[in-house]
Amino acid sequence: MGRYAVFGQPIAHSLSPRIHAAFGAQLGIALDYRAIEAGRDGFAARVAAFARDGGRGANVTLPLKQDALVLCADLSERARRAGSVNTLIRVGDGWHGDSTDGAGLLRDLRERHGFDSCGRRVLLLGAGGAARAAAFAFADAGASELAIANRTFDRAAELAQAIGDAARAVALDELEALGRFDLVVNATAAGHAGTSAALPRSLLDADALCYDLSYGKAAQAFLDAARRAGASRASDGLGMLVEQAAESFAVWHGTRPETAAVYAALREG
Ligand code: ATR
Repeated sequence: MGRYAVFGQPIAHSLSPRIHAAFGAQLGIALDYRAIEAGRDGFAARVAAFARDGGRGANVTLPLKQDALVLCADLSERARRAGSVNTLIRVGDGWHGDSTDGAGLLRDLRERHGFDSCGRRVLLLGAGGAARAAAFAFADAGASELAIANRTFDRAAELAQAIGDAARAVALDELEALGRFDLVVNATAAGHAGTSAALPRSLLDADALCYDLSYGKAAQAFLDAARRAGASRASDGLGMLVEQAAESFAVWHGTRPETAAVYAALREG
């Protein structure tokens, strides 16, 4: 049976083992997918032990997505640009690194929220690893404008510069003057501390979508801020979690699972 895992810290409550077990059952692919607790210190050793035990693929989550980059013998183009690896694939005696977060985000937006990013105005909050993957995905999808705001302005400026013409860094205290956006995405970790940037009402178009890359309690503060700012549509990133998992599954097994039933089951709890 193929051995797979997700590495992260904390990892006990990860939904990934449940998602991959459901995908395997759906497609008749036998697999053993486990959650492995690893902080930044023990990560490389744990991955090496996993490989010795026959591990064929793994997901990598907080706080390890940047650390995973250096473990890889080579990287996909999308992982290299995002500077982040969430998917490891065993190739020969090394790891190939990939990043399925951006593709998962775009697919969730398109198929679950009817939002095509092409030609749209997007405001991205955050400039860390999660934000990088999202920013390149929006640029590739043809967003007409990508404004990036971050607590540390210089990181937003650096990310905007890496993306090029379609992106610009904006200051958090200037959000009020930016006009309206079709999509506001929260890619900061602020929600883990129960806080969110305040969103002025002037940011949102009547049918604008507000979207948090995280889910559960971590998304709550941003979703509350979005509703206070008049958002009629606000979503957490549970759908993105399922879609990035489906994309990783396809990379490992060569076939993409249906996600609707798994998503519905997770939404029910
Ligand atoms: P991730 O992989 O989740 O993106 P990260 O690379 O550490 O994690 O990035 C965290 C992001 O959340 C950054 O944009 C960070 O802002 P800074 O660049 O200023 O550090 C942002 N962030 C974290 N805690 C925050 C808080 N309490 N308020 C606002 N932004 C926060």
